[in-house]
Amino acid sequence: MLDIKLEDIKTLFTEEQLQSKIKELAEELNKLYSGEEVYAICVLKGAVMFAMDLVKSLDMPLKIEFIRLSSYGTGRNTTGKVNAVDISLPDLNDKNVLIIEDIIDTGLTAKFLMDFIACNFKTKSTKFCSLLDKKISRKTEIEPDYYGFHVDDKFVVGYGLDYEGYYRNLKFIGYVE
Ligand code: IMP
Ligand code: MG
Repeated sequence: MLDIKLEDIKTLFTEEQLQSKIKELAEELNKLYSGEEVYAICVLKGAVMFAMDLVKSLDMPLKIEFIRLSSYGTGRNTTGKVNAVDISLPDLNDKNVLIIEDIIDTGLTAKFLMDFIACNFKTKSTKFCSLLDKKISRKTEIEPDYYGFHVDDKFVVGYGLDYEGYYRNLKFIGYVE
């Protein structure tokens, strides 16, 4: 049962802030990949909103893949183990790969994915773009190449991020105390 009410969620980033940051990120990526093709990889489920808004502002030839990983168990605590629910990918050899994530927390998911790609393909480039960076809880040396906002040690929901599966549909990102 849902034990956090919508009115208990405090706004951290408004819809306007998110959308304007995404435009900025897209501009940087458009410069980076100018004249190149890109394979965008959206990490389900959390990154879906961010990825879909971001790719709309990218102007290079682009293909989108979806993979599904999970590391958060239930509630607000990470299990520390990354679960590859579906990681079927096309041939990424010699491709510019752009991984799109919702948040880097411990960094275990990011590390798992970067290692998986490095072990299986010789890409032209691999970049990691995360909407949020929760630097304080990092347990690996991984840093995103691009990120939207830093967040402190808060549990955040909305715009793809969930609490027990709920609140992914919010247009803003909020936190619960
Ligand atoms: P990491 O492997 O610890 O870096 O965790 C990454 C995944 O945990 C993210 O892709 C999110 O799906 C989830 N996650 C981490 N922090 C939060 C949070 O504050 N709210 C909701 N999900 C989170
Ligand atoms: Mg995620």
